[in-house]
Amino acid sequence: MDGDRLKVLYLTPEAVPFAKTGGLADVAGALPEALHQMGIDVRLILPCYRAVLEKQHDLERFDSSFWLQLGDAFLETRVLGSRTPQGVPVYFIEREDLFDRPNLYGNNQGDYYDNCERFTFFAHAALQGIQTLSFRPDIIHCHDWQTGLVPALLQGPYRAEDFFSRTRTVFTIHNIGYQGLFPPAKLRITGLPLNRFYHPEGLEYWGNLSLLKSGIVYADALTTVSPTYAKEVQTAEYGRGMEGILRRRRDALHGILNGVDYRIWDPSIDVHLPAHYDITDRSGKAVCKAALLEETGLDRGLIDKPLLAMISRLDNQKGLDLLLAILDQLLVRDTGLIILGSGDPHIQAALEQAVGRFPGRMALRTGFDDPLAHRIMAGADIFLIPSRYEPCGLTQMYALKYGTLPVVRATGGLQDTIASFERVTGRGNGFTFSAYAPDAFFDAILQAISLYGERDHWTGLQSNGMAADFSWARSAEAYLRLYADLLGKPEAG
Ligand code: ADP
Ligand code: GLC
Repeated sequence: MDGDRLKVLYLTPEAVPFAKTGGLADVAGALPEALHQMGIDVRLILPCYRAVLEKQHDLERFDSSFWLQLGDAFLETRVLGSRTPQGVPVYFIEREDLFDRPNLYGNNQGDYYDNCERFTFFAHAALQGIQTLSFRPDIIHCHDWQTGLVPALLQGPYRAEDFFSRTRTVFTIHNIGYQGLFPPAKLRITGLPLNRFYHPEGLEYWGNLSLLKSGIVYADALTTVSPTYAKEVQTAEYGRGMEGILRRRRDALHGILNGVDYRIWDPSIDVHLPAHYDITDRSGKAVCKAALLEETGLDRGLIDKPLLAMISRLDNQKGLDLLLAILDQLLVRDTGLIILGSGDPHIQAALEQAVGRFPGRMALRTGFDDPLAHRIMAGADIFLIPSRYEPCGLTQMYALKYGTLPVVRATGGLQDTIASFERVTGRGNGFTFSAYAPDAFFDAILQAISLYGERDHWTGLQSNGMAADFSWARSAEAYLRLYADLLGKPEAG
């Protein structure tokens, strides 16, 4: 460590408020701010997407542009700068032809064909850009496959560089389902020597190159975003073929639960809501519900009936097949359902058909709409997360704070955060089910719907959830301990 302060560089493909497709952005926005408040010199580095250029009009332009090699090409780039709302420095790697695009990773025809080039370029540019800025990190903390190349690069081409001689790497797996798989011919552009890195103990994965595996194999420490998922990924059921290597690295693997940024997700201060409320006065929640029914065109009569909601990427991971299997049984009852989602066009089409069968009962909003996500969180009564797998899941924790009771499949972080209601003791904060089966999901929903009619129990369960504290401070301390262990220091900070 130069001086007293621990220096940590976050390499991430997304972070709130700059660019977001899912929960990783929430984490990469909030965790560095929590560390910053603990006195750590933490900085972020992201690609300079179009979303960044459109939102950040105050970008600082550092003078130093530099060139780097990508395969046979030599490409010029430079670093732009900004800060998070709490003042954490953020750097953006600018390269118009690679990052100035409508989306982060792809469009409705699929992933961008050159994602390997894009994120290989990002990895090299981050490692070189940080040198031009003279920020010498003690820890480089990488997130998901888009940054997985970095730990390998630091053990390969950058190993000899004095600048990184004391740097240790942490790689966080937010989702093992996204593995950054590319044909082996792409290895050439990574700058890694083939013999040393491309083999089953390296970043070869069943005949492909996996940038996720690169992070898993070469980082000094691995984390994933809940204790249960850390165990699950070591099994054949959840490991997606990475379970063997993860079992071999289990001593380096830690499960640290994500937190909630209550400056953004709290119904007493949420800027997107028509009325505010908290645990002591929940009257504003009914105002939010009425406004949501109005906004989505649902029957006004649903105001005193259970209103169910889901906010999710429309992806195989999220259990939408379970929802589609029970939709008709559910909506013949006195209930309403609102879904906000974007992703798989087939899932979207099936949901659209269901809306046609239940007008006034079911509403679907597609696309990515953050303010609407907040209004749904506040206006709904019951929040559904029937995930096939869920590394952590953030929306169940948001739902708790908004007095919206979660019905979740007990897997990954959902299992670590949601406990079933116990009638005798009044304990619990939601409803869980285990088998990945429509009946099991439907039974859990029925429990929630029937409890809705028992106001004492309902408000008691709401209180349990609203009082819970999942703020980032505890998780940030766990990360800090990990960084300190890696650096061989009794205490970092
Ligand atoms: P994942 O990262 O797997 O998508 P998480 O529960 O960790 O799941 O995080 C999802 C985040 O993305 C939450 O902040 C949620 O509100 C948000 N989100 C998901 N889909 C949408 C959408 N269509 N519009 C707005 N926000 C969304
Ligand atoms: C991933 C996971 C989700 C997790 C998020 C943030 O996208 O699917 O469960 O909450 O990352 O870590």
